[in-house]
Amino acid sequence: MQLFARKPVDQLTAEAQEGIGLKRALGKWDLTALGVGAIIGAGIFASTGSAIAGGSEHIGAGPAIVLSFLLTGTACGFAALCYAEFAAMIPVAGSAYTYSYAALGELVAWIIGWDLIIEYAVGNVAVAVSWSGHFLELLRLFNVHVPAWLATDFRTALQAAGDVAAGGAGEAAVYLASALDQAPRLLGVPIIFNLPAVLIVALLTVILVYGIRESAASNSLMVVLKVGIVLFFIAVGAFFIEPSNYVAYGGFAPNGFKGIGAAAAIIFFAYIGFDAVSTAAEEAKEPAKTMPFGIIMSLIICTVLYLLVALVMTGLAPWNQLGTAEPMLTALSLASGNPKFLAIARFIIAVGAVIAMTSVLLVFQLGQPRIFFSMARDGLLPQWAAKVHPKFRTPHVTTILTGVFVAVFAALMNINEAVELTNIGTLFAFVLVSIGVIVLRWREPDRKRPFRVPGAPWTPLIAVAACTYLMFQLPWVTWVRFVVWLAIGALIYVFYGYRRSRLRTERAGM
Ligand code: ALA
Repeated sequence: MQLFARKPVDQLTAEAQEGIGLKRALGKWDLTALGVGAIIGAGIFASTGSAIAGGSEHIGAGPAIVLSFLLTGTACGFAALCYAEFAAMIPVAGSAYTYSYAALGELVAWIIGWDLIIEYAVGNVAVAVSWSGHFLELLRLFNVHVPAWLATDFRTALQAAGDVAAGGAGEAAVYLASALDQAPRLLGVPIIFNLPAVLIVALLTVILVYGIRESAASNSLMVVLKVGIVLFFIAVGAFFIEPSNYVAYGGFAPNGFKGIGAAAAIIFFAYIGFDAVSTAAEEAKEPAKTMPFGIIMSLIICTVLYLLVALVMTGLAPWNQLGTAEPMLTALSLASGNPKFLAIARFIIAVGAVIAMTSVLLVFQLGQPRIFFSMARDGLLPQWAAKVHPKFRTPHVTTILTGVFVAVFAALMNINEAVELTNIGTLFAFVLVSIGVIVLRWREPDRKRPFRVPGAPWTPLIAVAACTYLMFQLPWVTWVRFVVWLAIGALIYVFYGYRRSRLRTERAGM
């Protein structure tokens, strides 16, 4: 019975108000900035390249990438409406985790909480690695060269060495492969890790322990800068568009709908983040109004920007040459125009990419501890995880724990695996939240809903179908990793959460 015991909505909101709570400091535009801060990052600046041109495990969309963005943006739009309904009704820090506790019961809630670690922490591992790549690129422009063994992970170095041995590999692969020869050895094992990724995560962890208001302020500044830089790319690039690029090499959609679908599942990463707004619900002023606004507005802003970036990028150069880790820079270097001007534009965009990814890291490092915090408050994780710092009023213990987890994996993990795992985990959360809306409407039709998804149950059902479709576009090994992760979580629940659950101990009068 306990597995499906639901936590009443009123109890969830009441518990959130016990003790010294988090500080309510964020208005509707702070929340929108938080969303945009989480959304625009490694996805648009990096993953778009392989989504357009194809990669080793998937085909590309070509210029039709703009349709992939439209497809994924629409799927996210339906899911965003569902998040908005919940966030306004249950403004509690746990996001999807808390919503499932209210709608679908404890077992599903635990699964989602565990799954969200993939979205937030593993997602940030990918962003930290991409941040490091762009940061090193900038350092190179200033003639600072970091040895490769301090700038990548072992598997990526090994892959690069394979590419170099096969011949025809570029400068970047030669650099990464050099890590294997230059690395110091411990008992014969080469020490290779991504130092810049570790350092940026450590720095942000310190800022986040210090305070939500300070964190939101530095976020807002970065968001203004990064939106400015994306607009700059669109405005400058628009002048150099060569319309024939839209139909070169196989036409507008060279791989048909299959290519568009495969690309849609990859660039999903670029959209993740509007849902993270909901983890700040306990720090929002008037969450019933500001939450739906922040979630939906941040998604709309980013979707419009992405569609324009996609149009410009594929207009600047033939699609099959854009498959790099920094496609915007590649597009500008292939465009025909004043070389000096285009070089300056590239520098500005490289700086923009680093800023953009810093703010993504900040928001997800902010969200993850708040989910742990909610789970600990419910007794599914140990109590020390729910501690709030007496002076800063931030969940410092879980913030530091998240920092250590992300830093360690970012030091050692391959970026593509992290992106795919993040996508499947997040899509799964979207599916369950959308189902949750339908279930709670049916179970508690009279509950006050400050925001209602229009067209329910059809809108949430479309969200479920669209997100499931995107999940099936991902490689099977991603599915295997995902299932293993959920199985580990299930074991922890059986041996810990099930026994310690606050819902259970209170009901049993323990
Ligand atoms: N949407 C975020 C990014 O693209 C995760 O970096």
